[in-house]
Amino acid sequence: MTPVLEVSELSAGYGGLPVLRDLSFRLDAGEVLALIGANGAGKTTALLTISGLLRPLAGVVTFEGVPVVGVRPDRLARSGLVHVPDDRGLFPSLTVAEHLDVVRADRAARARVDEWFPALAPLTDRRVGLLSGGEQQMVALAQALVRAPRVLMIDEMSLGLAPMVASSLLPVIRRVADESGCAVLLVEQHAAMALSIADQAVVLAHGSVVAQDSAGSLEANFTRVLDGYLGGPADGETSARTSVEDESEDDAGGNPPPEPSSTEPN
Ligand SMILES: Nc1ncnc2c1ncn2[C@@H]1O[C@H](COP(=O)(O)OP(=O)(O)O)[C@@H](O)[C@H]1O
Ligand SMILES: [Mg+2]
Repeated sequence: MTPVLEVSELSAGYGGLPVLRDLSFRLDAGEVLALIGANGAGKTTALLTISGLLRPLAGVVTFEGVPVVGVRPDRLARSGLVHVPDDRGLFPSLTVAEHLDVVRADRAARARVDEWFPALAPLTDRRVGLLSGGEQQMVALAQALVRAPRVLMIDEMSLGLAPMVASSLLPVIRRVADESGCAVLLVEQHAAMALSIADQAVVLAHGSVVAQDSAGSLEANFTRVLDGYLGGPADGETSARTSVEDESEDDAGGNPPPEPSSTEPN
């Protein structure tokens, strides 16, 4: 079976300097891949590159069997590779309904979105700027899903959300993948929660892949494998991200992750 999304030895960065090196994975329809790593690990760079917003320095991205490096991001989005950015890309003065109507909605997908996000029904005419963070994230996801994507990439879905809200949204992502066959690339700050709904996982540190396995295996080895790279306790319900990222950002933490490659490519 041709994977719906295949990334091979992808390297990307800014001003010619790589901040992401040799990322490779295959994602089949209906699969969820969790891409995890501390702040600055290269997760957003990976999503921007796969969705065509950033040109890779090296590597191949294949969407439904077709190489797509160089294809315009709006064209990719129209053909089913849809990206929910970390700022959610919403318009505060537009209503929920306007958000779901502005894109080319697929009728069947629209009906399913109503089932996946019943909480949005009473908010249809509400301006998005007046909604809670969790409701806004639902709108961002719904807006992506009414386009019936084949690949959905979600950057930091839980950013700024209470853990309870985040933990109620993650199972919906699993359901979306199972029921629609959409493949999901999930960048998530709640690593343990992301692993609990994912099929595969990739852990990035300093732009390099430091662990890649089935989500189940990584979850089983959570403390041993991930603590070193994420720096926090294997606590599924609380976000270890803030302290982790504070530490990793300047590498001044007491327990720095092992450097995967000490030589900086030029
Ligand atoms: N526009 C940019 N210009 C230069 N460097 C950037 C830019 N965006 C991100 N970076 C750097 O690239 C690295 C990876 O960033 P990013 O992909 O945003 O990581 P993550 O999403 O995992 O937090 C970081 O060191 C960051 O400072
Ligand atoms: Mg990011």
